[in-house]
Amino acid sequence: MNLDKCKIIELPRINDLRGNLTFIEASRHIPFDIRRVYYLYDVPGGAERGGHAHKELHQLIIAMSGSFDIHLDDGHTKKTVHMNRSYNGLYICPMIWREIDNFSSGAVCMVLASEYYDESDYYRSYTNFIDDVRR
Ligand code: TYD
Repeated sequence: MNLDKCKIIELPRINDLRGNLTFIEASRHIPFDIRRVYYLYDVPGGAERGGHAHKELHQLIIAMSGSFDIHLDDGHTKKTVHMNRSYNGLYICPMIWREIDNFSSGAVCMVLASEYYDESDYYRSYTNFIDDVRR
């Protein structure tokens, strides 16, 4: 099952009285090379993001600040992951429908992605995604 591959990756943490530090090295800490970084911020209360799946893209999602919920669905099984630690990344493999909601005030959702932005890699329709995944 694709959903079994989607896991929290605990990133390295250097704890310090001056504040903590976390770092990510492509291919060492996460199972892909990073081509793109984007982030969601100033998300209004009650908003929902995501609502799509990717054909080829690998991603790691981190709650840089605040918290939110990520709902994952591989077409067979669903699970929800609450994100609220800056040292945890949720790895999402290709062919996973995801929705993100329950953003706390001030939340920042950073996404590391394996490819440049490419609209043709998206399923924006849940029905089309389900049709392909169950084929
Ligand atoms: P969208 O996929 O709706 O964001 P979310 O993942 O939160 O649902 O993207 C919003 C808009 O931003 C859409 O027009 C595509 C554009 N966009 C880019 O131009 N580059 C990117 O890297 C991303 C992720 C989105």
